[in-house]
Amino acid sequence: MAMVCLSDFEAYAKKYLPKIAWDFFAAGADDCSTRDENILAYKRIRFRPRILRDVSVMDIRTKLLGTEISFPVGIAPTGFHQLAWPDGEKSTARAAKAMNTCYIASTYSTCTLEEISAAAPGSLQWFQLYIHRNRAVSQQLVQRAEALGFQGLVLTADLPYTGKRRDDVRNGFRLPPHMKLKNLEGAFEVCKMSLLDPSVTWNDIYWLRSLTHLPIIIKGILTKEDAELAVRHGVQGIIVSNHGGRQLDGGPAIIDALVEVVEAVQGRVEVYLDGGIRKGSDVLKALALGAKCVFIGRPALWGLAYKGEEGLQEVLRILQDEFRLSMALAG
Ligand code: FNR
Repeated sequence: MAMVCLSDFEAYAKKYLPKIAWDFFAAGADDCSTRDENILAYKRIRFRPRILRDVSVMDIRTKLLGTEISFPVGIAPTGFHQLAWPDGEKSTARAAKAMNTCYIASTYSTCTLEEISAAAPGSLQWFQLYIHRNRAVSQQLVQRAEALGFQGLVLTADLPYTGKRRDDVRNGFRLPPHMKLKNLEGAFEVCKMSLLDPSVTWNDIYWLRSLTHLPIIIKGILTKEDAELAVRHGVQGIIVSNHGGRQLDGGPAIIDALVEVVEAVQGRVEVYLDGGIRKGSDVLKALALGAKCVFIGRPALWGLAYKGEEGLQEVLRILQDEFRLSMALAG
């Protein structure tokens, strides 16, 4: 089967993954209106192309907080990669390295941070943190990531509780017994309640700052008010995100939220986006509206499900080619 666009990988994953894994990856909250709106909103934006502008040579590289990547698409943090491919996050790390882009490894990885870092030495990796009730666990994770050479700390701030994903409830979703949240092994015994700390506030940015020298990037901002607070609390970057529509259903499409955030931030920190990127032209629209880079969540999982690290590289290569072509055609 020729893989021509990201939907081909989606169709493959849907056909071949166990239903419970497919449903977990695909899930949105409630009736999935925000998840679906993320995708539809790109389609409503039309280009205003220019012609005769010599597009024979184009430079699609960019920099994330000073580090160069080959094109403005990175890999968003998603959990449980072993559900898609046996080597899990190690394959993700290798694919990101091969394509010279950034991989944000999730707290809920099924490989350890040590394994992820060793799989792709010298590549650009950020670590995504959920703050847990047991703060010692979070502190230890941050410090482990920094010691291993992760270059950024992404605080995901839109998950005080997990959104209601109906199919996961129906399926009674849980990790198969042979897979573990390897970075949290031991933490479950220490803290039997729900692991996540719903009492986190902006003040905790200062706490994080006291733990690490890493730049802090906050993920889950959707409004100008929170963008302003993020800048005032000294973060270095913002990821405009609604968690792929898996948290609050009914919020804005991501591309619409981007416009509001970019306007508020006025270039004081870097602004990125994730959610609904399925084509190179979506990337171009996000950049045209002020994002420095975008990240992909589900499409990376589909690539892994197709052929592990090779499959994910193929997904990234297709997005790269489509992005370059859209840029040329838009002049
Ligand atoms: C996620 N996302 C997520 N975010 C995060 O900060 N930590 C995590 O562990 C996860 N886990 C996770 C699992 C799965 C299966 C999905 C689909 C998503 C959210 C993710 O980082 C990102 O915001 C969205 O996936 C972006 O939307 P698209 O690209 O999937 O449309």
